[in-house]
Amino acid sequence: MAIDYIERIPNNVDLSRDRRLQRALEEWQPRYLDWWREMGPESYQGLDVYLRTATSVDAKGWASFGHVKMPEYRWGIFLAEPEAGRTIGFGEHKGEPVWQEVPGEYRGVLRRLIVTQGDTEPASVEQQRHLGHTAPSLYDLRNLFQVNVEEGRHLWAMVYLLHAYFGRDGREEAETLLERRSGDEDKPRILGAFNEKTPDWLSFFMFTYFTDRDGKYQLASLAESGFDPLARTCRFMLTEEAHHMFVGETGIGRVIQRTCELMREHKVHDVAPFGAINLDTMQRYLNFHYSVSLDLFGSEISTNAANFYSMGLKGRFEEGRREDDHRLTDAFYPVLALDGGRVASRDEPALTSLNARLRDDYSTDCARGVVRWNQVIKRHGIDFELKLPHQAFNRRIGAFANMHVTPEGEVISKETWNAAVDRWLPTEQDRAHVQSLMKPVREPGKFASWIAPPARGINNQPADFQYVKFS
Ligand SMILES: [Fe+2]
Ligand SMILES: [Fe+2]
Repeated sequence: MAIDYIERIPNNVDLSRDRRLQRALEEWQPRYLDWWREMGPESYQGLDVYLRTATSVDAKGWASFGHVKMPEYRWGIFLAEPEAGRTIGFGEHKGEPVWQEVPGEYRGVLRRLIVTQGDTEPASVEQQRHLGHTAPSLYDLRNLFQVNVEEGRHLWAMVYLLHAYFGRDGREEAETLLERRSGDEDKPRILGAFNEKTPDWLSFFMFTYFTDRDGKYQLASLAESGFDPLARTCRFMLTEEAHHMFVGETGIGRVIQRTCELMREHKVHDVAPFGAINLDTMQRYLNFHYSVSLDLFGSEISTNAANFYSMGLKGRFEEGRREDDHRLTDAFYPVLALDGGRVASRDEPALTSLNARLRDDYSTDCARGVVRWNQVIKRHGIDFELKLPHQAFNRRIGAFANMHVTPEGEVISKETWNAAVDRWLPTEQDRAHVQSLMKPVREPGKFASWIAPPARGINNQPADFQYVKFS
């Protein structure tokens, strides 16, 4: 049966006028759907889910809402509107017109950047595929699926660039994006954090808060790219990404809220017997997810990062708002490093420090949510503060890889670490307790014992709305 794929792919890139691209996507789409059926949300492909679908890039209303079965989701291709006369904002080509085609000398590097970003999108869907079985409410189940289909769309966004601008090697890369598998020993996903498990909903909320936020910072720096199609693609992806981080921030906030309510009601510190999650357990989950996400920014000192910048391919976060020469050849940036047995800051060339700078911007952003969570705790009159651990804590990549550093930033011996690590990272007991709470709640408007309801519904729907129809 002939399917009009072009009709099925909402887009603002004039797909119907590019035969070669049409053919490439027509061949790729059925394989994408095979991947989605095999590795997307387990068991729920036949249910009607209340989803948002991108249908344009209009800032006043770019999405439509309605119940759809996930395999019938219309994964579209959208680029933010072009900016007339846009010039390259940084690096050696600063001031030149942006590229509408791939500059030949940067082809390999640019393809690698796109593939690395693209690989994270299906990876997170794979990591989260079992979570539907244990959603704490229909509202949360729907949010999970929303995040999943949009990560699928982000894969489409990157595959579109590969197909449209990289010819045969682009098509090959698009295939391998469907072949790698999160956590697989033989063909793992490219980045470490995307091979970790997301075994429970507390991990999911932490992941969407901390790891999707890494995505925000990567996309934001690619949104500055001199390769205009990449910049425009990433700019639109950021509008969707905001919801993923919202799911994380409000999810964690609701868990905290529930915990605090129970602490106050029963005048206890330990809410585990009431089917909720203790604040110190949450701190350990936070420590884990934050430190794993910091690794995603790569080594503090990186000639790759310097090259991406000098080539005009990947800028800084909010490059345009910074007041300097946007070349950075003579500038310095303070970077944390080990110095005589302690962690200290020292000035390094700004170009090779770009990973560290992006990571700092990310950390500042992460800290804002922590402030809001602490307000919830304070409002309940409880004396406890969540904190981001030190950047050197629990790292696997960069200057602090495999060192032992406390959440306060003190360098310690392996023995001291081993004796204390159960206070800092999730323990077997934490994980077992959280796992024991993972029971699905499917009655509209009802929530599991460990999480408070959201302040409002999606798209202003009432509290008892049927976000997912099981009948
Ligand atoms: Fe994404
Ligand atoms: Fe995301």
